[in-house]
Amino acid sequence: ELLNEIHGFQKDFTVDADTLKAITKNFITELDKGLSKKGGNIPMIPGWVMQYPTGKESGDYLAIDLGGTNLRVILVKLGGDRTFDSTQSKYKLPDELRTTKNRDELFAFIADSLDNFIKEQFPNGVSKNLPLGFTFSYPASQDKINEGILQRWTKGFDIPNVEGHDVVQLLQEQLTKKSIPVDVVALINDTVGTLVASLYTDGETKMGVIFGTGVNGAYYDTCKDIEKLQGRLPDDIPGDSLMAVNCEYGSFDNEHVVLPRNRFDIQIDNESPRPGQQAFEKMTSGYYLGELLRLALLESYNKGLIFKGQDVSKLEKPYIMDTSVPSRVEDDPFENLENTDEIFTKELGINTTVPERKLIRALCELIGTRSARVASCGVAGICQKRGYKTGHIAADGSVYNRYPGFKEAVAEGLRAIYGWEKADPSTYPITTVAAEDGSGAGAAIIAALTQDRLAAGK
Ligand code: BG6
Ligand code: GLC
Repeated sequence: ELLNEIHGFQKDFTVDADTLKAITKNFITELDKGLSKKGGNIPMIPGWVMQYPTGKESGDYLAIDLGGTNLRVILVKLGGDRTFDSTQSKYKLPDELRTTKNRDELFAFIADSLDNFIKEQFPNGVSKNLPLGFTFSYPASQDKINEGILQRWTKGFDIPNVEGHDVVQLLQEQLTKKSIPVDVVALINDTVGTLVASLYTDGETKMGVIFGTGVNGAYYDTCKDIEKLQGRLPDDIPGDSLMAVNCEYGSFDNEHVVLPRNRFDIQIDNESPRPGQQAFEKMTSGYYLGELLRLALLESYNKGLIFKGQDVSKLEKPYIMDTSVPSRVEDDPFENLENTDEIFTKELGINTTVPERKLIRALCELIGTRSARVASCGVAGICQKRGYKTGHIAADGSVYNRYPGFKEAVAEGLRAIYGWEKADPSTYPITTVAAEDGSGAGAAIIAALTQDRLAAGK
Protein backbone atom coordinates (compact mmCIF):
# COMPACT_ATOMS: atom_id res chain seq x y z
CA GLU A 1 0.00 0.00 0.00
CA LEU A 2 2.71 2.47 0.96
CA LEU A 3 4.59 1.57 -2.20
CA ASN A 4 1.57 2.62 -4.23
CA GLU A 5 1.47 5.84 -2.27
CA ILE A 6 5.14 6.48 -3.10
CA HIS A 7 4.42 5.83 -6.79
CA GLY A 8 1.61 8.34 -6.67
CA PHE A 9 3.87 10.99 -5.14
CA GLN A 10 6.50 10.20 -7.76
CA LYS A 11 4.02 11.22 -10.43
CA ASP A 12 3.12 14.39 -8.53
CA PHE A 13 6.67 15.59 -8.00
CA THR A 14 8.70 14.34 -10.97
CA VAL A 15 9.55 16.89 -13.64
CA ASP A 16 11.01 15.38 -16.81
CA ALA A 17 13.56 16.92 -19.16
CA ASP A 18 10.98 18.05 -21.71
CA THR A 19 9.06 19.98 -19.07
CA LEU A 20 12.27 21.59 -17.82
CA LYS A 21 13.05 22.67 -21.38
CA ALA A 22 9.55 24.09 -21.83
CA ILE A 23 9.84 26.00 -18.54
CA THR A 24 13.22 27.41 -19.60
CA LYS A 25 11.87 28.53 -22.96
CA ASN A 26 8.99 30.32 -21.31
CA PHE A 27 11.40 31.79 -18.78
CA ILE A 28 13.32 33.59 -21.53
CA THR A 29 10.13 35.15 -22.90
CA GLU A 30 9.14 36.28 -19.42
CA LEU A 31 12.58 37.74 -18.66
CA ASP A 32 12.30 39.81 -21.83
CA LYS A 33 8.80 40.93 -20.91
CA GLY A 34 10.12 42.02 -17.53
CA LEU A 35 12.69 44.25 -19.24
CA SER A 36 10.12 45.89 -21.51
CA LYS A 37 8.50 49.25 -20.80
CA LYS A 38 5.20 47.58 -20.15
CA GLY A 39 6.75 45.09 -17.77
CA GLY A 40 5.61 41.58 -16.92
CA ASN A 41 5.41 39.21 -14.00
CA ILE A 42 9.14 39.15 -13.40
CA PRO A 43 10.15 42.57 -12.02
CA MET A 44 13.70 42.67 -13.56
CA ILE A 45 14.82 45.49 -11.30
CA PRO A 46 17.83 47.56 -12.41
CA GLY A 47 20.24 47.47 -9.47
CA TRP A 48 22.29 50.58 -10.41
CA VAL A 49 25.55 48.72 -10.11
CA MET A 50 26.98 49.78 -13.42
CA GLN A 51 30.33 48.16 -13.72
CA TYR A 52 32.23 45.06 -12.82
CA PRO A 53 34.36 45.44 -9.73
CA THR A 54 37.98 46.00 -10.68
CA GLY A 55 39.26 44.00 -7.74
CA LYS A 56 41.14 47.09 -6.60
CA GLU A 57 38.37 48.42 -4.39
CA SER A 58 39.75 48.80 -0.89
CA GLY A 59 38.93 50.07 2.56
CA ASP A 60 36.69 49.19 5.51
CA TYR A 61 32.96 48.98 5.01
CA LEU A 62 30.03 47.90 7.07
CA ALA A 63 27.32 45.73 5.62
CA ILE A 64 24.05 44.45 6.93
CA ASP A 65 22.37 41.52 5.38
CA LEU A 66 18.68 40.99 6.03
CA GLY A 67 18.20 37.60 4.40
CA GLY A 68 15.56 34.99 4.92
CA THR A 69 16.50 33.68 8.33
CA ASN A 70 19.21 35.83 9.85
CA LEU A 71 20.33 39.37 10.21
CA ARG A 72 24.06 39.59 9.78
CA VAL A 73 26.21 42.60 10.53
CA ILE A 74 29.55 42.51 8.81
CA LEU A 75 32.73 44.52 8.76
CA VAL A 76 34.47 43.93 5.45
CA LYS A 77 38.06 44.90 4.82
CA LEU A 78 38.62 45.02 1.08
CA GLY A 79 42.25 44.31 0.34
CA GLY A 80 42.43 46.06 -3.04
CA ASP A 81 43.98 42.93 -4.50
CA ARG A 82 40.92 40.72 -5.11
CA THR A 83 40.92 39.57 -1.49
CA PHE A 84 38.86 40.53 1.48
CA ASP A 85 38.52 39.72 5.16
CA SER A 86 35.32 39.93 7.07
CA THR A 87 34.16 39.80 10.66
CA GLN A 88 30.51 39.27 11.34
CA SER A 89 27.84 38.81 13.95
CA LYS A 90 24.69 36.89 13.23
CA TYR A 91 21.41 37.68 14.93
CA LYS A 92 18.50 35.31 14.53
CA LEU A 93 15.56 37.34 13.40
CA PRO A 94 12.85 36.87 16.04
CA ASP A 95 9.95 35.11 14.29
CA GLU A 96 7.39 37.67 15.41
CA LEU A 97 9.37 40.43 13.67
CA ARG A 98 8.47 38.95 10.29
CA THR A 99 4.85 39.92 10.82
CA THR A 100 4.99 42.69 13.40
CA LYS A 101 2.34 45.37 13.01
CA ASN A 102 4.87 48.10 13.75
CA ARG A 103 7.48 48.59 11.04
CA ASP A 104 9.73 50.59 13.34
CA GLU A 105 10.36 47.43 15.37
CA LEU A 106 12.10 45.81 12.41
CA PHE A 107 14.29 48.81 11.61
CA ALA A 108 15.03 49.47 15.28
CA PHE A 109 16.12 45.84 15.66
CA ILE A 110 18.53 46.27 12.74
CA ALA A 111 19.82 49.58 14.13
CA ASP A 112 20.35 48.11 17.61
CA SER A 113 22.20 45.10 16.22
CA LEU A 114 24.41 47.43 14.24
CA ASP A 115 25.02 49.56 17.32
CA ASN A 116 26.14 46.51 19.34
CA PHE A 117 28.45 45.42 16.58
CA ILE A 118 30.06 48.83 16.14
CA LYS A 119 30.65 49.10 19.88
CA GLU A 120 32.38 45.71 19.82
CA GLN A 121 34.49 46.42 16.74
CA PHE A 122 35.37 50.03 17.51
CA PRO A 123 35.59 50.22 21.31
CA ASN A 124 37.22 53.65 21.09
CA GLY A 125 34.47 55.06 18.93
CA VAL A 126 34.74 56.21 15.33
CA SER A 127 35.98 59.56 14.03
CA LYS A 128 33.52 59.85 11.16
CA ASN A 129 30.38 58.13 9.97
CA LEU A 130 30.97 54.67 8.56
CA PRO A 131 29.64 53.86 5.06
CA LEU A 132 27.26 50.93 4.98
CA GLY A 133 25.91 48.68 2.23
CA PHE A 134 22.45 47.31 3.03
CA THR A 135 21.61 43.93 1.56
CA PHE A 136 17.85 43.78 1.54
CA SER A 137 16.60 40.56 0.03
CA TYR A 138 13.11 41.51 -1.10
CA PRO A 139 11.95 43.14 -4.34
CA ALA A 140 12.76 46.83 -4.01
CA SER A 141 12.57 49.31 -6.91
CA GLN A 142 15.54 51.57 -7.33
CA ASP A 143 16.11 54.70 -9.35
CA LYS A 144 19.49 55.05 -7.73
CA ILE A 145 21.76 52.88 -5.68
CA ASN A 146 20.86 54.36 -2.30
CA GLU A 147 17.14 53.82 -2.37
CA GLY A 148 14.87 50.81 -2.39
CA ILE A 149 11.12 51.07 -2.51
CA LEU A 150 9.67 47.79 -1.38
CA GLN A 151 7.32 46.44 -4.02
CA ARG A 152 5.93 43.65 -1.86
CA TRP A 153 7.08 41.36 0.89
CA THR A 154 8.06 37.78 0.04
CA LYS A 155 9.12 34.70 2.04
CA GLY A 156 6.40 35.03 4.67
CA PHE A 157 7.22 38.61 5.72
CA ASP A 158 4.16 40.74 6.17
CA ILE A 159 4.76 44.07 7.91
CA PRO A 160 2.38 46.94 7.15
CA ASN A 161 3.52 50.36 5.88
CA VAL A 162 6.76 49.18 4.33
CA GLU A 163 5.46 48.28 0.87
CA GLY A 164 5.69 51.44 -1.23
CA HIS A 165 8.26 53.02 1.11
CA ASP A 166 11.99 53.54 0.82
CA VAL A 167 13.67 51.11 3.22
CA VAL A 168 16.96 53.05 3.10
CA GLN A 169 15.16 56.02 4.59
CA LEU A 170 13.35 53.89 7.16
CA LEU A 171 16.67 52.47 8.33
CA GLN A 172 18.54 55.78 8.20
CA GLU A 173 15.81 57.40 10.33
CA GLN A 174 16.35 54.83 13.08
CA LEU A 175 20.13 55.19 12.87
CA THR A 176 19.93 58.94 13.14
CA LYS A 177 17.38 58.78 15.95
CA LYS A 178 19.71 56.52 17.92
CA SER A 179 22.84 58.54 17.00
CA ILE A 180 24.52 55.57 15.37
CA PRO A 181 27.42 56.87 13.23
CA VAL A 182 26.51 55.19 9.96
CA ASP A 183 25.52 56.37 6.47
CA VAL A 184 23.60 53.92 4.33
CA VAL A 185 25.25 54.49 0.94
CA ALA A 186 23.93 51.56 -1.08
CA LEU A 187 21.02 49.16 -1.09
CA ILE A 188 21.46 45.87 -2.88
CA ASN A 189 19.68 42.60 -3.33
CA ASP A 190 21.39 39.43 -2.06
CA THR A 191 21.65 38.07 -5.61
CA VAL A 192 23.40 41.24 -6.81
CA GLY A 193 25.73 41.06 -3.81
CA THR A 194 26.54 37.47 -4.60
CA LEU A 195 27.16 38.32 -8.25
CA VAL A 196 29.45 41.26 -7.54
CA ALA A 197 31.38 39.63 -4.71
CA SER A 198 32.04 36.57 -6.83
CA LEU A 199 33.20 38.69 -9.76
CA TYR A 200 35.65 40.38 -7.39
CA THR A 201 37.44 37.06 -7.04
CA ASP A 202 36.37 35.04 -10.10
CA GLY A 203 36.15 36.57 -13.56
CA GLU A 204 34.17 33.61 -14.90
CA THR A 205 31.11 34.54 -12.84
CA LYS A 206 27.98 35.01 -14.96
CA MET A 207 25.19 35.14 -12.40
CA GLY A 208 24.53 35.41 -8.70
CA VAL A 209 21.79 33.08 -7.49
CA ILE A 210 20.18 32.29 -4.17
CA PHE A 211 18.69 28.92 -3.34
CA GLY A 212 17.57 29.70 0.18
CA THR A 213 14.42 30.73 1.98
CA GLY A 214 13.67 32.38 -1.38
CA VAL A 215 14.89 31.73 -4.92
CA ASN A 216 16.22 34.44 -7.21
CA GLY A 217 19.02 35.43 -9.57
CA ALA A 218 20.92 38.48 -10.85
CA TYR A 219 23.09 39.10 -13.91
CA TYR A 220 24.55 42.01 -15.86
CA ASP A 221 22.70 43.31 -18.88
CA THR A 222 23.49 46.17 -21.23
CA CYS A 223 21.55 49.37 -20.50
CA LYS A 224 20.33 49.77 -24.06
CA ASP A 225 18.78 46.27 -23.91
CA ILE A 226 16.77 47.23 -20.84
CA GLU A 227 13.89 48.95 -22.57
CA LYS A 228 12.30 50.21 -19.40
CA LEU A 229 15.43 52.24 -18.61
CA GLN A 230 14.72 54.54 -21.53
CA GLY A 231 14.43 58.06 -20.19
CA ARG A 232 15.59 57.00 -16.74
CA LEU A 233 19.34 56.95 -17.35
CA PRO A 234 21.42 60.00 -16.45
CA ASP A 235 22.71 61.72 -19.62
CA ASP A 236 26.34 60.93 -19.00
CA ILE A 237 25.76 57.16 -19.01
CA PRO A 238 26.27 55.55 -22.44
CA GLY A 239 23.79 52.93 -23.61
CA ASP A 240 26.39 50.22 -23.74
CA SER A 241 27.14 50.50 -20.00
CA LEU A 242 26.45 47.48 -17.92
CA MET A 243 23.71 47.28 -15.33
CA ALA A 244 23.24 44.58 -12.70
CA VAL A 245 19.66 43.36 -12.82
CA ASN A 246 17.91 41.80 -9.85
CA CYS A 247 15.44 39.56 -11.68
CA GLU A 248 13.14 38.67 -8.77
CA TYR A 249 12.29 35.60 -10.79
CA GLY A 250 10.60 33.93 -7.83
CA SER A 251 7.51 35.47 -9.40
CA PHE A 252 7.99 33.60 -12.68
CA ASP A 253 4.77 32.08 -14.01
CA ASN A 254 2.40 33.75 -11.59
CA GLU A 255 -0.20 33.27 -14.32
CA HIS A 256 0.34 29.47 -14.01
CA VAL A 257 0.96 28.63 -17.63
CA VAL A 258 3.92 26.31 -17.58
CA LEU A 259 4.90 25.20 -14.08
CA PRO A 260 3.61 21.70 -13.31
CA ARG A 261 1.89 22.60 -10.05
CA ASN A 262 0.32 19.79 -8.05
CA ARG A 263 -2.46 19.95 -5.47
CA PHE A 264 0.00 20.70 -2.66
CA ASP A 265 1.49 23.65 -4.52
CA ILE A 266 -1.99 24.99 -5.13
CA GLN A 267 -2.92 24.64 -1.47
CA ILE A 268 0.26 26.40 -0.33
CA ASP A 269 -0.49 29.26 -2.68
CA ASN A 270 -4.13 29.55 -1.67
CA GLU A 271 -3.30 29.58 2.03
CA SER A 272 -0.34 31.97 1.81
CA PRO A 273 -0.59 35.65 2.81
CA ARG A 274 -0.01 36.52 -0.87
CA PRO A 275 -1.94 34.08 -3.09
CA GLY A 276 -1.05 34.29 -6.78
CA GLN A 277 2.44 35.63 -6.09
CA GLN A 278 5.89 34.00 -6.22
CA ALA A 279 4.66 30.92 -8.10
CA PHE A 280 8.18 29.75 -8.99
CA GLU A 281 9.49 30.41 -5.48
CA LYS A 282 6.65 28.50 -3.86
CA MET A 283 7.70 25.33 -5.74
CA THR A 284 11.41 25.66 -5.20
CA SER A 285 12.51 27.61 -2.16
CA GLY A 286 13.35 26.57 1.36
CA TYR A 287 10.49 28.44 2.92
CA TYR A 288 8.07 25.94 1.37
CA LEU A 289 9.87 22.57 1.23
CA GLY A 290 8.93 21.49 4.75
CA GLU A 291 5.37 22.63 4.16
CA LEU A 292 5.11 20.52 1.01
CA LEU A 293 6.27 17.52 3.03
CA ARG A 294 3.74 18.26 5.76
CA LEU A 295 0.83 18.54 3.34
CA ALA A 296 1.74 15.32 1.55
CA LEU A 297 2.10 13.41 4.83
CA LEU A 298 -1.20 14.74 6.12
CA GLU A 299 -2.89 13.52 2.96
CA SER A 300 -1.55 10.00 3.49
CA TYR A 301 -2.61 10.16 7.13
CA ASN A 302 -6.11 11.28 6.19
CA LYS A 303 -6.36 8.35 3.81
CA GLY A 304 -5.63 6.13 6.82
CA LEU A 305 -2.30 4.96 5.39
CA ILE A 306 0.21 6.26 7.95
CA PHE A 307 0.50 7.21 11.62
CA LYS A 308 -2.67 5.23 12.35
CA GLY A 309 -4.37 6.14 15.62
CA GLN A 310 -1.77 8.74 16.54
CA ASP A 311 -2.17 12.31 17.63
CA VAL A 312 -1.12 14.38 14.62
CA SER A 313 -2.13 17.75 16.03
CA LYS A 314 1.41 19.08 15.68
CA LEU A 315 1.62 17.97 12.06
CA GLU A 316 -1.61 19.83 11.44
CA LYS A 317 0.05 23.11 12.25
CA PRO A 318 1.02 25.03 9.08
CA TYR A 319 4.75 25.61 8.61
CA ILE A 320 5.63 23.53 11.67
CA MET A 321 8.49 21.94 9.72
CA ASP A 322 11.17 24.15 8.27
CA THR A 323 13.54 22.93 5.57
CA SER A 324 15.86 21.47 8.15
CA VAL A 325 13.38 18.58 8.55
CA PRO A 326 13.52 17.21 4.97
CA SER A 327 17.19 18.10 4.96
CA ARG A 328 17.93 16.03 8.08
CA VAL A 329 15.74 13.17 6.83
CA GLU A 330 17.78 13.03 3.64
CA ASP A 331 20.95 13.09 5.71
CA ASP A 332 19.84 10.10 7.79
CA PRO A 333 22.57 7.52 7.20
CA PHE A 334 20.77 4.53 8.76
CA GLU A 335 19.09 1.91 6.64
CA ASN A 336 16.06 1.94 8.91
CA LEU A 337 16.15 5.72 9.23
CA GLU A 338 16.47 5.89 13.01
CA ASN A 339 17.32 9.60 12.92
CA THR A 340 14.10 10.27 11.06
CA ASP A 341 12.22 8.40 13.75
CA GLU A 342 13.81 10.58 16.37
CA ILE A 343 12.86 13.79 14.53
CA PHE A 344 9.25 12.69 14.24
CA THR A 345 9.00 11.45 17.81
CA LYS A 346 10.69 14.37 19.47
CA GLU A 347 9.53 17.24 17.31
CA LEU A 348 6.09 16.10 16.18
CA GLY A 349 5.09 13.57 18.83
CA ILE A 350 4.57 10.86 16.19
CA ASN A 351 6.01 7.34 16.35
CA THR A 352 6.92 5.92 12.98
CA THR A 353 7.31 2.45 11.50
CA VAL A 354 10.11 1.57 9.09
CA PRO A 355 7.81 1.60 6.02
CA GLU A 356 6.42 4.98 7.09
CA ARG A 357 9.93 6.34 7.37
CA LYS A 358 10.75 5.02 3.92
CA LEU A 359 7.75 6.93 2.61
CA ILE A 360 8.91 10.08 4.40
CA ARG A 361 12.40 9.70 2.96
CA ALA A 362 11.08 9.09 -0.56
CA LEU A 363 8.92 12.19 -0.31
CA CYS A 364 11.82 14.34 0.86
CA GLU A 365 13.94 13.14 -2.05
CA LEU A 366 11.15 13.92 -4.48
CA ILE A 367 10.50 17.37 -3.05
CA GLY A 368 14.20 18.30 -2.85
CA THR A 369 15.00 17.02 -6.34
CA ARG A 370 12.05 18.77 -7.88
CA SER A 371 13.05 22.01 -6.20
CA ALA A 372 16.58 21.82 -7.59
CA ARG A 373 15.52 20.80 -11.09
CA VAL A 374 12.84 23.45 -11.44
CA ALA A 375 15.14 26.08 -9.89
CA SER A 376 17.82 25.24 -12.46
CA CYS A 377 15.47 26.59 -15.17
CA GLY A 378 16.10 30.12 -13.85
CA VAL A 379 19.83 29.66 -14.35
CA ALA A 380 19.39 28.14 -17.80
CA GLY A 381 16.91 30.86 -18.77
CA ILE A 382 19.35 33.69 -18.02
CA CYS A 383 22.32 31.90 -19.58
CA GLN A 384 20.37 31.18 -22.77
CA LYS A 385 19.00 34.69 -22.92
CA ARG A 386 22.49 36.15 -22.62
CA GLY A 387 24.10 33.52 -24.85
CA TYR A 388 26.42 32.29 -22.09
CA LYS A 389 27.68 28.85 -23.11
CA THR A 390 30.13 28.45 -20.26
CA GLY A 391 30.80 30.03 -16.91
CA HIS A 392 30.35 30.00 -13.18
CA ILE A 393 27.07 30.61 -11.42
CA ALA A 394 27.82 31.98 -7.96
CA ALA A 395 25.34 30.39 -5.57
CA ASP A 396 24.42 30.95 -1.94
CA GLY A 397 21.58 30.21 0.47
CA SER A 398 20.75 27.60 3.07
CA VAL A 399 19.23 25.12 0.63
CA TYR A 400 22.20 25.24 -1.73
CA ASN A 401 24.71 24.99 1.10
CA ARG A 402 22.97 22.54 3.38
CA TYR A 403 20.31 20.44 1.62
CA PRO A 404 21.87 17.04 0.87
CA GLY A 405 22.28 16.39 -2.86
CA PHE A 406 20.86 19.77 -3.87
CA LYS A 407 23.94 21.00 -5.76
CA GLU A 408 24.14 17.73 -7.67
CA ALA A 409 20.43 17.89 -8.52
CA VAL A 410 20.83 21.43 -9.88
CA ALA A 411 23.69 20.20 -12.07
CA GLU A 412 21.54 17.29 -13.19
CA GLY A 413 18.69 19.69 -13.99
CA LEU A 414 21.01 21.82 -16.14
CA ARG A 415 22.31 18.68 -17.86
CA ALA A 416 18.74 17.64 -18.67
CA ILE A 417 17.98 21.07 -20.14
CA TYR A 418 21.16 21.31 -22.19
CA GLY A 419 21.46 17.62 -23.07
CA TRP A 420 25.07 17.37 -21.91
CA GLU A 421 26.66 13.90 -21.62
CA LYS A 422 26.59 12.63 -18.06
CA ALA A 423 29.94 13.30 -16.42
CA ASP A 424 31.45 14.71 -13.26
CA PRO A 425 29.22 17.78 -12.68
CA SER A 426 32.26 19.99 -12.05
CA THR A 427 33.20 19.50 -15.71
CA TYR A 428 29.88 20.72 -17.12
CA PRO A 429 30.19 23.92 -19.18
CA ILE A 430 27.98 25.85 -16.77
CA THR A 431 28.55 25.04 -13.12
CA THR A 432 27.38 26.46 -9.83
CA VAL A 433 30.09 27.56 -7.43
CA ALA A 434 29.52 28.30 -3.74
CA ALA A 435 29.87 32.04 -3.15
CA GLU A 436 31.89 32.83 -0.07
CA ASP A 437 29.90 35.33 1.95
CA GLY A 438 28.56 36.84 -1.22
CA SER A 439 26.11 39.35 0.11
CA GLY A 440 28.26 40.87 2.81
CA ALA A 441 31.31 41.33 0.65
CA GLY A 442 29.12 42.35 -2.28
CA ALA A 443 27.47 45.10 -0.26
CA ALA A 444 30.89 46.35 0.80
CA ILE A 445 32.28 46.29 -2.75
CA ILE A 446 29.23 48.10 -4.05
CA ALA A 447 29.48 50.66 -1.26
CA ALA A 448 33.12 51.16 -2.30
CA LEU A 449 32.17 51.49 -5.98
CA THR A 450 29.53 54.03 -5.04
CA GLN A 451 31.94 56.09 -2.98
CA ASP A 452 34.56 55.99 -5.74
CA ARG A 453 31.94 57.26 -8.15
CA LEU A 454 30.87 60.02 -5.79
CA ALA A 455 34.50 61.00 -5.26
CA ALA A 456 34.92 61.18 -9.03
CA GLY A 457 31.95 63.54 -9.10
CA LYS A 458 29.63 61.21 -11.03
C1 BG6 B 1 23.16 34.09 2.95
C2 BG6 B 1 23.44 35.43 2.33
O1 BG6 B 1 24.31 33.31 2.94
O2 BG6 B 1 22.17 33.48 2.21
C3 BG6 B 1 22.15 36.26 2.35
O3 BG6 B 1 24.44 36.09 3.05
C4 BG6 B 1 21.09 35.54 1.65
O4 BG6 B 1 22.34 37.51 1.77
C5 BG6 B 1 20.94 34.18 2.26
O5 BG6 B 1 19.87 36.27 1.72
C6 BG6 B 1 19.91 33.37 1.58
O6 BG6 B 1 19.75 32.18 2.28
P1 BG6 B 1 18.58 31.94 3.31
O7 BG6 B 1 18.55 30.49 3.37
O8 BG6 B 1 18.99 32.60 4.59
O9 BG6 B 1 17.38 32.57 2.70
C1 GLC C 1 12.94 36.34 -2.48
C2 GLC C 1 13.15 37.85 -2.54
C3 GLC C 1 14.38 38.20 -3.34
C4 GLC C 1 15.57 37.41 -2.81
C5 GLC C 1 15.27 35.92 -2.76
C6 GLC C 1 16.43 35.13 -2.16
O1 GLC C 1 12.66 35.88 -3.74
O2 GLC C 1 12.01 38.47 -3.09
O3 GLC C 1 14.65 39.58 -3.26
O4 GLC C 1 16.68 37.64 -3.64
O5 GLC C 1 14.11 35.71 -1.98
O6 GLC C 1 16.75 35.55 -0.88
